[in-house]
Amino acid sequence: MDANTIRQKFLDFEVKKGHKIIQPAPLVLEGDPTTLFTGSGMQPLLPYLLGKEHPEGKRLTDAQPSMRLQDIEDVGDPRHTTVFEMLGNWSLGDYFKREQIENFFEFLTQVVGLDPEKIYVTCFIGNEKYGIPKDTEAAEIWKSVFEKAGVKAEIAEIGSASEGDKRGIKEGERIFFYDDKENWWSRGGGIDSTPLGDPCGPDSEVFYDFGEDKQDVAKYGQSHPASDGARFMEIGNQVFMQYRRLEDGSFEELEKKNVDFGGGLERIAAAAIGSFDVFKISLMKPIIDKLEEISGKSYDNNTDEMRVIADHIRGAYLLASQGLAPSNKTQGYAMRRLVRRAILRALDLGISANFLSEIVPIVADNYKDLPDSILTHRDVALDVLLKEENAFRKTLNRGLKELEKLTRNKKIVDGRDIFMLQDTYGFPFELSVEECYRQGIELTPEYKKEFDEALKEQRERSQTASKGMFKGGLEDHGEQTVKYHTATHLLLAALQKVISPDIVQKGSNTTSERTRFDFNCDHKLTPEEISAVENQVNEWIAQDLPVVFDEYDKTYARDVLKAHGQFWDKYPDILKVYTIGDFDNPVSREVCGGPHVEHTGVIGKFKIKKEESSAAGIRRIKAVIE
Ligand code: ALA
Repeated sequence: MDANTIRQKFLDFEVKKGHKIIQPAPLVLEGDPTTLFTGSGMQPLLPYLLGKEHPEGKRLTDAQPSMRLQDIEDVGDPRHTTVFEMLGNWSLGDYFKREQIENFFEFLTQVVGLDPEKIYVTCFIGNEKYGIPKDTEAAEIWKSVFEKAGVKAEIAEIGSASEGDKRGIKEGERIFFYDDKENWWSRGGGIDSTPLGDPCGPDSEVFYDFGEDKQDVAKYGQSHPASDGARFMEIGNQVFMQYRRLEDGSFEELEKKNVDFGGGLERIAAAAIGSFDVFKISLMKPIIDKLEEISGKSYDNNTDEMRVIADHIRGAYLLASQGLAPSNKTQGYAMRRLVRRAILRALDLGISANFLSEIVPIVADNYKDLPDSILTHRDVALDVLLKEENAFRKTLNRGLKELEKLTRNKKIVDGRDIFMLQDTYGFPFELSVEECYRQGIELTPEYKKEFDEALKEQRERSQTASKGMFKGGLEDHGEQTVKYHTATHLLLAALQKVISPDIVQKGSNTTSERTRFDFNCDHKLTPEEISAVENQVNEWIAQDLPVVFDEYDKTYARDVLKAHGQFWDKYPDILKVYTIGDFDNPVSREVCGGPHVEHTGVIGKFKIKKEESSAAGIRRIKAVIE
């Protein structure tokens, strides 16, 4: 069964089970500043999952095109894509665990025709800290469902994924309990990261077994469903959305318990053809075939490159056909990145002429069954993408000019020069080398090694910085500490506004009881200055400004967004930026790992307790929230 058929059969099946088909949302959700793109089917349904009545009733279904840019670095492996379709069904306070589990199993085994022996499932082990019980109910339902199908299904406790890597699974075991990192679902991830106010709950994930021999045990450890290895692939997730996270961080049971089911269409289609590689399914294979034809190279020997190109052009096409244009801001910038990365990977394959005109029509054809209600600009998509391809070729030409400038003063080019061209101008390694050969410019004998060293050094710097950055100077992620963390961003912004725009952060330490903040300043702050800073912070708190974050390319974050950061040369290439206030005219914008509150209003009253010298030219403020 191919992917387009599976999508249709799923919707038909859900309609038979009493669901109404709703229109999927666009990838760019209007009025939702919390995320760049729709990343799951539930996102447009948030208010209804919190209890609001849906006009179409209590049983809903759709196929939602989704984009998860946070997975971009994983694309190239057999199962990750930035763009995918999520088959979804929802019970808004109607049926619960039994009906959901029985139905999904029926769909997989009776409609798609998967072998029940190859289906494995996971359930939530419970969490003592928040008093959430173990989901034995779901596990028992699964047991009965498997037994009815004549499949042996013992229940086992694994706990953490790393525990699973050591333990593996035993003969007869099919239902596994894992902790909240695997089997708790919220838009923020695990239980501690559940956003305040969001619906959430334990989930039960379904995996397809592609066979023991696919697992690289030396690399990933023993096989088990939550392993990163290649034996099991998650094909669906049933979230029992029965809690809401309160402002104080605890969880309350929702009056109406919901089911939020999401299944990856591409992955179910991969299971249907028994291929661990999702790039072999009907929506992908024609793209790969075309790439083989244009490049004259085989997929088997150029797997990574072809996967990235196929994925990114699919994503860029979906965005273009929803009316988005490449730009230097937010979603438009993400689209630009997808196109550019695809073009660079094509260069790796030796495709140096424009080629989107050959690939985009194939992608468009694959997506012909998606509703016009979201693909509103299909007719202009190709044109938009071709323009961007041309524009990027110009950027590449600029790289050539930089190479020329470089060789005016140097007789011989080394690997570090080549690295600089790639790092600063996006001019890729292979092109530099090729150009040097072509123009008869001498390269050092060890240029490749020098390049690798420079790359490795940069990666190490990035890792060190991201470890530090993602700690964010926070001792813990408790509620109070998070408030202090956001207050610290406001403090820096207030100092810059009230005292001097040249003030930068020289160090900070945040606990659940105070924030300590060091900054450059040539004088002791006067009492008037201190109260002006304090008042400014409190004014921003009173305005209840939104706090949002996203991930950006480093150069974009620094040069376009003008984010405040201390360690630009050490940051990784992709980093998280927090913005407080209006996105185009923010109060504060900093590179930061978070976490932060979602609205400044929850912070409380900000008070500076002490202002003192910390070192020559460095002042230190200690402040509290009352
Ligand atoms: N909302 C759930 C997910 O994205 C189904 O996995």
